[in-house]
Amino acid sequence: MTQNDTVNAHPTKRFFVSMLTRDIELKDAILDLLDNCIDGIERQQQGQDNDTNAKPYQGFWAKITATKDKFEIWDNCGGIPTEIALEKAFRMGRDDPERDSGLHTVGMYGIGMKRALFKMGKQSRVTSRPKDEPRAFFVEITPEWLESDHWELKLQHSETEELTENGTRVTVEQLHDNIAFQFNSDKSEFLDDLIKDIAQFYALIIDKGFSVTINGHAIGGAPLTLLTALINSQSPINPYIFKATIEGVEIRLAVGFRRKLASEKELEDEAQRPRTSDEAGWTVICNDRVVLYCDKSQITGWGRAQVPRYHTQFISIAGVLEFRSNNLLNLPLKTTKRGLDTSSTVYLSVFDYMTEGLKIFTDFTNKWKGREEETNVAFENTESKKPREILKDLDSNESVIFTNVRKLDNAQRYTPSLPRPETRNPLKRIVFNRHADEVVSLAIALFDDPQTKPSDVGERCFSLALENIIKAQSKEGGN
Ligand SMILES: Nc1ncnc2c1ncn2[C@@H]1O[C@H](COP(=O)(O)OP(=O)(O)OP(=O)(O)O)[C@@H](O)[C@H]1O
Ligand SMILES: [Mg+2]
Repeated sequence: MTQNDTVNAHPTKRFFVSMLTRDIELKDAILDLLDNCIDGIERQQQGQDNDTNAKPYQGFWAKITATKDKFEIWDNCGGIPTEIALEKAFRMGRDDPERDSGLHTVGMYGIGMKRALFKMGKQSRVTSRPKDEPRAFFVEITPEWLESDHWELKLQHSETEELTENGTRVTVEQLHDNIAFQFNSDKSEFLDDLIKDIAQFYALIIDKGFSVTINGHAIGGAPLTLLTALINSQSPINPYIFKATIEGVEIRLAVGFRRKLASEKELEDEAQRPRTSDEAGWTVICNDRVVLYCDKSQITGWGRAQVPRYHTQFISIAGVLEFRSNNLLNLPLKTTKRGLDTSSTVYLSVFDYMTEGLKIFTDFTNKWKGREEETNVAFENTESKKPREILKDLDSNESVIFTNVRKLDNAQRYTPSLPRPETRNPLKRIVFNRHADEVVSLAIALFDDPQTKPSDVGERCFSLALENIIKAQSKEGGN
Protein backbone atom coordinates (compact mmCIF):
# COMPACT_ATOMS: atom_id res chain seq x y z
CA MET A 1 0.00 0.00 0.00
CA THR A 2 1.41 3.39 -0.90
CA GLN A 3 1.16 6.37 1.45
CA ASN A 4 -0.65 8.81 -0.83
CA ASP A 5 -3.43 6.68 -2.26
CA THR A 6 -6.46 8.91 -2.01
CA VAL A 7 -9.96 7.60 -1.59
CA ASN A 8 -12.71 9.11 -3.71
CA ALA A 9 -15.39 10.34 -1.35
CA HIS A 10 -17.09 12.77 -3.72
CA PRO A 11 -20.84 12.58 -3.89
CA THR A 12 -22.20 11.19 -7.14
CA LYS A 13 -24.47 13.71 -8.71
CA ARG A 14 -27.15 11.26 -9.74
CA PHE A 15 -27.50 9.99 -6.16
CA PHE A 16 -27.35 13.49 -4.73
CA VAL A 17 -30.03 14.84 -7.01
CA SER A 18 -32.40 11.95 -6.47
CA MET A 19 -31.98 12.01 -2.68
CA LEU A 20 -32.39 15.74 -2.50
CA THR A 21 -35.69 15.79 -4.30
CA ARG A 22 -37.28 12.65 -2.91
CA ASP A 23 -38.73 13.98 0.33
CA ILE A 24 -39.85 17.39 -0.80
CA GLU A 25 -43.36 17.91 -2.08
CA LEU A 26 -43.63 19.73 -5.38
CA LYS A 27 -45.70 22.41 -3.68
CA ASP A 28 -43.03 23.02 -1.02
CA ALA A 29 -40.33 23.16 -3.68
CA ILE A 30 -42.23 25.93 -5.45
CA LEU A 31 -42.87 27.78 -2.19
CA ASP A 32 -39.10 27.68 -1.58
CA LEU A 33 -38.63 29.65 -4.78
CA LEU A 34 -41.20 32.16 -3.65
CA ASP A 35 -39.42 32.47 -0.30
CA ASN A 36 -36.26 33.36 -2.20
CA CYS A 37 -38.10 36.27 -3.83
CA ILE A 38 -39.20 37.63 -0.44
CA ASP A 39 -35.70 37.15 0.97
CA GLY A 40 -34.46 39.14 -2.04
CA ILE A 41 -36.68 42.09 -1.07
CA GLU A 42 -35.57 41.83 2.55
CA ARG A 43 -31.89 41.93 1.53
CA GLN A 44 -32.51 45.00 -0.59
CA GLN A 45 -34.32 46.78 2.19
CA GLN A 46 -31.75 45.74 4.77
CA GLY A 47 -34.28 45.17 7.52
CA GLN A 48 -36.16 48.43 6.91
CA ASP A 49 -39.52 46.65 6.80
CA ASN A 50 -40.44 47.63 10.31
CA ASP A 51 -43.69 48.73 11.85
CA THR A 52 -43.58 52.21 10.39
CA ASN A 53 -44.14 50.85 6.90
CA ALA A 54 -47.42 48.96 6.55
CA LYS A 55 -46.70 47.98 2.93
CA PRO A 56 -42.99 47.12 2.73
CA TYR A 57 -43.56 44.75 -0.21
CA GLN A 58 -45.55 47.19 -2.33
CA GLY A 59 -44.40 47.22 -5.95
CA PHE A 60 -42.68 43.84 -5.75
CA TRP A 61 -44.05 40.85 -7.61
CA ALA A 62 -43.52 37.23 -8.55
CA LYS A 63 -45.14 35.81 -11.66
CA ILE A 64 -45.45 32.05 -11.83
CA THR A 65 -46.20 30.20 -15.03
CA ALA A 66 -46.84 26.48 -14.83
CA THR A 67 -47.83 24.51 -17.93
CA LYS A 68 -47.13 21.01 -19.14
CA ASP A 69 -44.06 22.28 -21.01
CA LYS A 70 -42.54 24.82 -18.71
CA PHE A 71 -42.34 26.15 -15.19
CA GLU A 72 -41.23 29.71 -14.59
CA ILE A 73 -41.02 32.09 -11.68
CA TRP A 74 -40.03 35.62 -12.49
CA ASP A 75 -39.58 38.34 -9.89
CA ASN A 76 -38.46 41.94 -9.57
CA CYS A 77 -36.97 41.40 -6.13
CA GLY A 78 -33.48 42.72 -6.70
CA GLY A 79 -31.70 39.87 -8.45
CA ILE A 80 -28.76 37.71 -7.40
CA PRO A 81 -25.50 39.66 -7.08
CA THR A 82 -22.98 38.22 -9.56
CA GLU A 83 -20.52 37.51 -6.83
CA ILE A 84 -23.11 35.51 -4.91
CA ALA A 85 -24.05 33.64 -8.08
CA LEU A 86 -20.41 32.75 -8.75
CA GLU A 87 -19.52 31.66 -5.25
CA LYS A 88 -22.63 30.80 -3.29
CA ALA A 89 -26.06 30.63 -4.90
CA PHE A 90 -25.51 27.45 -6.93
CA ARG A 91 -23.65 25.49 -4.28
CA MET A 92 -25.52 22.66 -2.61
CA GLY A 93 -25.57 23.82 0.97
CA ARG A 94 -24.47 27.05 2.52
CA ASP A 95 -21.06 27.68 4.02
CA ASP A 96 -21.96 31.19 5.16
CA PRO A 97 -24.87 30.97 7.60
CA GLU A 98 -24.02 34.46 8.86
CA ARG A 99 -24.48 36.07 5.40
CA ASP A 100 -27.94 37.45 6.20
CA SER A 101 -27.40 38.19 9.85
CA GLY A 102 -29.50 41.14 10.95
CA LEU A 103 -32.16 40.43 8.31
CA HIS A 104 -35.55 38.74 8.55
CA THR A 105 -34.88 36.24 5.79
CA VAL A 106 -35.79 32.54 5.90
CA GLY A 107 -33.17 31.06 3.55
CA MET A 108 -30.65 29.19 5.63
CA TYR A 109 -29.70 25.80 4.18
CA GLY A 110 -28.57 26.81 0.72
CA ILE A 111 -30.54 24.10 -1.00
CA GLY A 112 -34.06 25.39 -1.83
CA MET A 113 -33.51 26.73 -5.34
CA LYS A 114 -31.43 23.81 -6.60
CA ARG A 115 -33.79 21.27 -5.11
CA ALA A 116 -36.77 22.93 -6.80
CA LEU A 117 -35.02 22.90 -10.19
CA PHE A 118 -34.02 19.24 -9.91
CA LYS A 119 -37.45 18.29 -8.65
CA MET A 120 -39.23 19.73 -11.65
CA GLY A 121 -37.15 18.99 -14.72
CA LYS A 122 -33.90 18.37 -16.52
CA GLN A 123 -33.23 21.67 -18.19
CA SER A 124 -33.20 24.88 -16.20
CA ARG A 125 -31.97 28.39 -16.49
CA VAL A 126 -31.60 31.07 -13.85
CA THR A 127 -31.43 34.55 -15.33
CA SER A 128 -30.80 37.52 -13.11
CA ARG A 129 -30.34 41.23 -13.41
CA PRO A 130 -28.83 42.25 -10.10
CA LYS A 131 -29.42 45.67 -8.67
CA ASP A 132 -26.52 48.13 -9.01
CA GLU A 133 -24.76 46.00 -11.64
CA PRO A 134 -24.46 46.82 -15.32
CA ARG A 135 -25.21 43.42 -16.81
CA ALA A 136 -27.62 40.55 -16.51
CA PHE A 137 -26.33 36.96 -16.51
CA PHE A 138 -27.69 33.47 -16.78
CA VAL A 139 -26.67 30.05 -15.54
CA GLU A 140 -27.92 26.91 -17.20
CA ILE A 141 -28.34 23.42 -15.82
CA THR A 142 -28.56 20.90 -18.63
CA PRO A 143 -29.46 17.18 -18.74
CA GLU A 144 -25.80 16.49 -19.61
CA TRP A 145 -24.58 18.34 -16.53
CA LEU A 146 -26.99 16.37 -14.37
CA GLU A 147 -25.52 13.13 -15.71
CA SER A 148 -21.90 14.25 -15.49
CA ASP A 149 -19.59 14.14 -12.54
CA HIS A 150 -18.32 17.70 -12.56
CA TRP A 151 -19.82 20.31 -10.30
CA GLU A 152 -19.05 23.59 -12.06
CA LEU A 153 -21.55 25.60 -14.04
CA LYS A 154 -21.01 28.48 -16.46
CA LEU A 155 -22.16 32.00 -15.74
CA GLN A 156 -22.91 33.62 -19.08
CA HIS A 157 -24.00 36.99 -20.39
CA SER A 158 -26.52 37.29 -23.13
CA GLU A 159 -27.05 40.25 -25.35
CA THR A 160 -30.57 39.27 -26.27
CA GLU A 161 -32.12 38.20 -23.00
CA GLU A 162 -33.28 41.17 -21.03
CA LEU A 163 -35.06 41.41 -17.76
CA THR A 164 -36.99 44.64 -17.67
CA GLU A 165 -36.42 45.17 -13.94
CA ASN A 166 -33.81 44.12 -11.40
CA GLY A 167 -34.82 40.63 -10.53
CA THR A 168 -34.55 36.95 -11.28
CA ARG A 169 -36.22 34.53 -13.65
CA VAL A 170 -36.03 30.83 -12.99
CA THR A 171 -37.18 28.62 -15.85
CA VAL A 172 -37.45 24.84 -15.89
CA GLU A 173 -38.06 22.87 -19.06
CA GLN A 174 -38.02 19.19 -20.01
CA LEU A 175 -40.29 18.71 -17.01
CA HIS A 176 -40.43 15.26 -15.45
CA ASP A 177 -43.56 13.42 -16.55
CA ASN A 178 -45.23 13.49 -13.14
CA ILE A 179 -44.64 17.23 -12.86
CA ALA A 180 -45.93 18.01 -16.36
CA PHE A 181 -48.97 15.92 -15.51
CA GLN A 182 -49.71 17.98 -12.40
CA PHE A 183 -49.33 21.29 -14.23
CA ASN A 184 -51.42 20.13 -17.16
CA SER A 185 -55.03 21.02 -17.92
CA ASP A 186 -57.18 24.03 -17.28
CA LYS A 187 -58.51 22.55 -14.12
CA SER A 188 -55.34 21.32 -12.48
CA GLU A 189 -56.14 20.22 -8.97
CA PHE A 190 -52.51 20.74 -8.07
CA LEU A 191 -52.56 24.36 -9.21
CA ASP A 192 -55.82 24.99 -7.34
CA ASP A 193 -54.20 23.69 -4.16
CA LEU A 194 -51.07 25.71 -4.81
CA ILE A 195 -53.13 28.88 -5.17
CA LYS A 196 -54.90 28.13 -1.89
CA ASP A 197 -51.61 27.46 -0.13
CA ILE A 198 -50.01 30.63 -1.43
CA ALA A 199 -53.09 32.61 -0.34
CA GLN A 200 -52.68 31.21 3.16
CA PHE A 201 -48.90 30.96 3.63
CA TYR A 202 -48.29 34.39 2.08
CA ALA A 203 -51.41 36.03 3.53
CA LEU A 204 -49.45 38.61 5.47
CA ILE A 205 -46.87 39.19 2.73
CA ILE A 206 -49.62 39.75 0.15
CA ASP A 207 -51.38 42.01 2.60
CA LYS A 208 -48.16 43.98 2.93
CA GLY A 209 -48.18 44.69 -0.76
CA PHE A 210 -46.53 41.74 -2.53
CA SER A 211 -48.21 40.53 -5.69
CA VAL A 212 -48.17 36.88 -6.80
CA THR A 213 -49.75 35.60 -9.98
CA ILE A 214 -50.12 32.06 -11.28
CA ASN A 215 -50.69 31.73 -15.01
CA GLY A 216 -51.82 35.36 -15.04
CA HIS A 217 -54.28 35.14 -12.14
CA ALA A 218 -53.53 37.33 -9.14
CA ILE A 219 -53.72 35.56 -5.79
CA GLY A 220 -55.53 37.33 -2.95
CA GLY A 221 -54.29 36.76 0.58
CA ALA A 222 -56.42 34.77 3.00
CA PRO A 223 -58.06 36.89 5.70
CA LEU A 224 -56.23 37.60 8.95
CA THR A 225 -58.44 40.00 10.87
CA LEU A 226 -60.06 40.23 14.28
CA LEU A 227 -62.83 42.39 15.65
CA THR A 228 -61.92 45.37 17.77
CA ALA A 229 -63.91 48.16 19.38
CA LEU A 230 -64.33 51.23 17.19
CA ILE A 231 -62.14 54.00 18.51
CA ASN A 232 -63.99 56.06 21.16
CA SER A 233 -66.82 53.56 21.32
CA GLN A 234 -67.84 51.76 24.47
CA SER A 235 -67.82 48.35 22.83
CA PRO A 236 -66.37 45.73 25.16
CA ILE A 237 -65.23 43.51 22.27
CA ASN A 238 -61.47 43.45 21.89
CA PRO A 239 -58.94 40.68 21.53
CA TYR A 240 -56.71 39.43 24.31
CA ILE A 241 -53.18 40.60 23.57
CA PHE A 242 -49.81 39.33 24.69
CA LYS A 243 -46.49 40.85 23.61
CA ALA A 244 -42.99 39.90 24.61
CA THR A 245 -39.39 39.55 23.54
CA ILE A 246 -37.95 36.15 24.36
CA GLU A 247 -34.50 34.96 23.25
CA GLY A 248 -34.26 37.76 20.73
CA VAL A 249 -37.62 36.84 19.20
CA GLU A 250 -40.28 39.50 19.13
CA ILE A 251 -43.66 37.91 19.92
CA ARG A 252 -47.14 39.34 19.40
CA LEU A 253 -50.27 37.40 20.11
CA ALA A 254 -53.87 38.46 19.60
CA VAL A 255 -56.84 36.17 20.07
CA GLY A 256 -60.48 37.15 19.96
CA PHE A 257 -63.57 37.22 17.81
CA ARG A 258 -63.35 37.47 14.05
CA ARG A 259 -67.15 37.80 13.77
CA LYS A 260 -70.21 37.90 16.03
CA LEU A 261 -71.37 34.68 17.64
CA ALA A 262 -73.12 32.24 15.34
CA SER A 263 -76.79 31.58 16.03
CA GLU A 264 -77.87 28.02 16.82
CA LYS A 265 -79.44 27.75 13.38
CA GLU A 266 -76.18 28.70 11.74
CA LEU A 267 -74.29 26.18 13.85
CA GLU A 268 -76.69 23.41 12.87
CA ASP A 269 -76.13 24.22 9.20
CA GLU A 270 -72.39 24.33 9.74
CA ALA A 271 -72.39 20.92 11.44
CA GLN A 272 -74.19 19.41 8.48
CA ARG A 273 -72.13 21.08 5.79
CA PRO A 274 -68.82 22.22 7.26
CA ARG A 275 -67.23 24.87 5.12
CA THR A 276 -63.69 23.86 4.35
CA SER A 277 -62.60 27.48 4.21
CA ASP A 278 -63.43 27.92 7.86
CA GLU A 279 -61.38 30.83 9.13
CA ALA A 280 -61.55 30.05 12.83
CA GLY A 281 -58.50 28.95 14.83
CA TRP A 282 -54.88 29.95 15.24
CA THR A 283 -52.59 31.33 12.58
CA VAL A 284 -48.89 31.32 13.36
CA ILE A 285 -46.49 33.57 11.48
CA CYS A 286 -42.66 33.55 11.46
CA ASN A 287 -40.87 36.47 9.81
CA ASP A 288 -44.04 37.31 7.85
CA ARG A 289 -44.48 33.74 6.55
CA VAL A 290 -47.58 31.97 7.78
CA VAL A 291 -46.47 28.56 9.04
CA LEU A 292 -49.84 27.37 10.29
CA TYR A 293 -53.19 28.72 9.09
CA CYS A 294 -56.36 28.56 11.19
CA ASP A 295 -55.28 25.58 13.23
CA LYS A 296 -57.87 23.94 15.45
CA SER A 297 -55.80 21.14 16.93
CA GLN A 298 -54.08 20.49 20.23
CA ILE A 299 -50.86 21.98 18.84
CA THR A 300 -52.33 25.43 19.35
CA GLY A 301 -54.03 24.73 22.64
CA TRP A 302 -57.48 23.45 21.67
CA GLY A 303 -58.41 20.68 24.09
CA ARG A 304 -55.52 21.50 26.42
CA ALA A 305 -55.13 23.34 29.72
CA GLN A 306 -58.86 23.77 30.40
CA VAL A 307 -59.59 24.96 26.89
CA PRO A 308 -62.26 22.83 25.22
CA ARG A 309 -61.51 21.04 21.98
CA TYR A 310 -62.42 22.93 18.84
CA HIS A 311 -66.05 22.61 17.92
CA THR A 312 -68.24 24.55 15.47
CA GLN A 313 -69.59 26.45 18.47
CA PHE A 314 -66.24 28.29 18.45
CA ILE A 315 -66.42 29.24 14.79
CA SER A 316 -66.20 32.94 15.70
CA ILE A 317 -62.85 32.67 17.50
CA ALA A 318 -59.50 33.28 15.82
CA GLY A 319 -55.99 34.03 16.97
CA VAL A 320 -52.84 35.32 15.29
CA LEU A 321 -49.43 34.61 16.78
CA GLU A 322 -46.49 36.39 15.22
CA PHE A 323 -42.79 35.70 15.73
CA ARG A 324 -40.09 37.90 14.33
CA SER A 325 -36.34 37.53 14.63
CA ASN A 326 -33.17 37.97 12.68
CA ASN A 327 -31.88 34.80 14.27
CA LEU A 328 -33.73 32.14 12.33
CA LEU A 329 -32.67 29.31 14.56
CA ASN A 330 -34.67 30.77 17.43
CA LEU A 331 -37.91 30.85 15.46
CA PRO A 332 -40.28 27.92 15.99
CA LEU A 333 -39.91 26.84 12.37
CA LYS A 334 -39.68 23.28 11.14
CA THR A 335 -36.88 22.58 8.67
CA THR A 336 -39.44 22.53 5.87
CA LYS A 337 -40.33 26.11 6.96
CA ARG A 338 -44.00 25.27 6.51
CA GLY A 339 -44.72 23.90 9.94
CA LEU A 340 -44.50 24.86 13.55
CA ASP A 341 -41.77 23.46 15.78
CA THR A 342 -43.78 23.00 18.95
CA SER A 343 -40.74 22.03 20.98
CA SER A 344 -39.03 25.39 20.54
CA THR A 345 -38.41 27.44 23.67
CA VAL A 346 -40.20 30.53 22.41
CA TYR A 347 -43.26 28.55 21.46
CA LEU A 348 -43.36 26.80 24.80
CA SER A 349 -43.00 30.15 26.58
CA VAL A 350 -45.96 31.63 24.78
CA PHE A 351 -48.22 28.58 24.88
CA ASP A 352 -49.70 29.37 28.33
CA TYR A 353 -50.76 32.80 27.10
CA MET A 354 -52.34 31.32 23.99
CA THR A 355 -54.53 29.08 26.13
CA GLU A 356 -55.18 31.85 28.67
CA GLY A 357 -56.43 34.13 25.90
CA LEU A 358 -58.32 31.44 24.02
CA LYS A 359 -60.18 30.41 27.18
CA ILE A 360 -61.63 33.90 27.66
CA PHE A 361 -63.43 33.55 24.34
CA THR A 362 -64.46 29.89 24.63
CA ASP A 363 -65.87 30.75 28.09
CA PHE A 364 -67.79 33.70 26.67
CA THR A 365 -69.25 31.51 23.94
CA ASN A 366 -70.23 28.85 26.49
CA LYS A 367 -71.81 31.35 28.86
CA TRP A 368 -73.98 32.81 26.13
CA LYS A 369 -74.91 29.45 24.62
CA GLY A 370 -78.55 29.49 23.56
CA ARG A 371 -78.82 33.28 23.72
CA GLU A 372 -76.18 34.20 21.15
CA GLU A 373 -78.40 36.80 19.59
CA GLU A 374 -78.43 38.79 22.81
CA THR A 375 -74.71 39.38 22.37
CA ASN A 376 -75.18 41.07 18.98
CA VAL A 377 -75.50 44.46 20.57
CA ALA A 378 -72.04 44.11 22.11
CA PHE A 379 -70.63 43.56 18.62
CA GLU A 380 -72.29 46.64 17.18
CA ASN A 381 -69.49 49.15 17.52
CA THR A 382 -66.68 46.92 16.29
CA GLU A 383 -64.66 46.69 13.12
CA SER A 384 -62.40 44.08 11.52
CA LYS A 385 -58.76 44.99 11.68
CA LYS A 386 -55.37 43.37 11.31
CA PRO A 387 -53.84 42.32 14.63
CA ARG A 388 -50.92 44.68 14.11
CA GLU A 389 -53.24 47.65 13.73
CA ILE A 390 -55.27 46.60 16.76
CA LEU A 391 -52.14 46.38 18.84
CA LYS A 392 -51.08 49.83 17.71
CA ASP A 393 -54.52 51.30 18.55
CA LEU A 394 -54.61 49.70 21.97
CA ASP A 395 -51.02 50.69 22.69
CA SER A 396 -51.81 54.32 22.03
CA ASN A 397 -55.10 54.29 23.94
CA GLU A 398 -54.57 55.57 27.46
CA SER A 399 -57.62 53.86 28.88
CA VAL A 400 -56.32 50.45 27.80
CA ILE A 401 -54.10 48.90 30.41
CA PHE A 402 -51.36 46.43 29.64
CA THR A 403 -50.07 44.59 32.69
CA ASN A 404 -46.67 43.04 33.19
CA VAL A 405 -46.41 39.28 33.22
CA ARG A 406 -44.83 38.01 36.38
CA LYS A 407 -43.14 34.91 34.97
CA LEU A 408 -41.43 36.70 32.09
CA ASP A 409 -39.35 39.81 31.70
CA ASN A 410 -40.22 42.00 28.73
CA ALA A 411 -43.75 40.67 28.51
CA GLN A 412 -47.11 42.39 28.80
CA ARG A 413 -50.71 41.45 28.26
CA TYR A 414 -54.10 43.06 27.86
CA THR A 415 -57.25 41.24 28.88
CA PRO A 416 -60.59 42.57 27.62
CA SER A 417 -63.58 42.44 29.95
CA LEU A 418 -66.36 40.86 28.00
CA PRO A 419 -70.01 41.19 29.03
CA ARG A 420 -71.52 38.39 31.14
CA PRO A 421 -75.09 37.19 30.91
CA GLU A 422 -77.32 37.84 33.89
CA THR A 423 -77.42 34.74 36.01
CA ARG A 424 -80.54 35.51 38.07
CA ASN A 425 -82.97 33.98 35.62
CA PRO A 426 -80.92 32.10 33.05
CA LEU A 427 -82.34 30.51 29.96
CA LYS A 428 -82.73 26.72 29.84
CA ARG A 429 -82.70 24.67 26.72
CA ILE A 430 -85.43 22.06 26.18
CA VAL A 431 -84.86 19.17 23.80
CA PHE A 432 -87.17 16.19 23.21
CA ASN A 433 -88.39 13.95 20.42
CA ARG A 434 -91.99 13.10 19.41
CA HIS A 435 -93.48 11.06 16.58
CA ALA A 436 -93.86 12.93 13.31
CA ASP A 437 -97.64 12.34 13.04
CA GLU A 438 -98.18 13.84 16.49
CA VAL A 439 -96.09 16.88 15.58
CA VAL A 440 -98.10 17.34 12.36
CA SER A 441 -101.41 17.06 14.25
CA LEU A 442 -100.30 19.80 16.60
CA ALA A 443 -98.92 21.91 13.75
CA ILE A 444 -102.31 21.83 12.01
CA ALA A 445 -104.19 22.53 15.21
CA LEU A 446 -101.98 25.38 16.33
CA PHE A 447 -100.74 26.94 13.08
CA ASP A 448 -103.04 25.55 10.43
CA ASP A 449 -99.88 24.48 8.60
CA PRO A 450 -98.54 20.91 8.65
CA GLN A 451 -95.11 22.17 7.51
CA THR A 452 -94.51 24.23 10.66
CA LYS A 453 -91.07 23.62 12.13
CA PRO A 454 -91.16 21.12 15.06
CA SER A 455 -89.26 23.60 17.22
CA ASP A 456 -91.97 26.22 16.66
CA VAL A 457 -94.68 23.68 17.51
CA GLY A 458 -92.85 22.74 20.72
CA GLU A 459 -92.37 26.36 21.67
CA ARG A 460 -96.06 27.19 21.16
CA CYS A 461 -97.08 24.17 23.28
CA PHE A 462 -94.82 25.44 26.04
CA SER A 463 -96.25 28.96 25.86
CA LEU A 464 -99.84 27.69 25.91
CA ALA A 465 -99.21 25.45 28.90
CA LEU A 466 -97.54 28.31 30.74
CA GLU A 467 -100.34 30.74 29.88
CA ASN A 468 -102.94 28.25 31.18
CA ILE A 469 -101.11 27.82 34.43
CA ILE A 470 -100.74 31.55 34.93
CA LYS A 471 -104.44 32.06 34.18
CA ALA A 472 -105.43 29.27 36.57
CA GLN A 473 -103.20 30.70 39.27
CA SER A 474 -104.61 34.20 38.89
CA LYS A 475 -108.17 32.77 39.05
CA GLU A 476 -107.31 30.94 42.23
CA GLY A 477 -105.79 34.12 43.57
CA GLY A 478 -108.97 36.03 42.64
CA ASN A 479 -111.28 33.58 44.47
N1 LIG B 1 -35.30 35.09 -6.50
C1 LIG B 1 -34.12 35.40 -5.95
N2 LIG B 1 -33.77 36.69 -5.73
C2 LIG B 1 -32.58 37.01 -5.16
N3 LIG B 1 -31.67 36.09 -4.75
C3 LIG B 1 -31.96 34.79 -4.93
C4 LIG B 1 -33.20 34.38 -5.54
N4 LIG B 1 -33.20 33.02 -5.59
C5 LIG B 1 -32.05 32.61 -5.05
N5 LIG B 1 -31.27 33.66 -4.67
C6 LIG B 1 -29.94 33.59 -4.07
O1 LIG B 1 -29.50 32.26 -4.19
C7 LIG B 1 -29.15 31.71 -2.93
C8 LIG B 1 -29.47 30.23 -2.90
O2 LIG B 1 -30.86 30.01 -2.83
P1 LIG B 1 -31.40 28.68 -2.16
O3 LIG B 1 -32.86 28.76 -2.09
O4 LIG B 1 -30.81 27.52 -2.88
O5 LIG B 1 -30.77 28.71 -0.70
P2 LIG B 1 -31.11 29.68 0.52
O6 LIG B 1 -32.28 30.50 0.20
O7 LIG B 1 -29.85 30.40 0.87
O8 LIG B 1 -31.43 28.64 1.68
P3 LIG B 1 -32.68 27.60 1.79
O9 LIG B 1 -32.20 26.29 1.29
O10 LIG B 1 -32.96 27.58 3.25
O11 LIG B 1 -33.75 28.14 0.95
C9 LIG B 1 -29.90 32.54 -1.92
O12 LIG B 1 -29.24 32.54 -0.68
C10 LIG B 1 -29.90 33.91 -2.59
O13 LIG B 1 -28.69 34.60 -2.33
MG1 LIG C 1 -34.09 29.61 -0.41
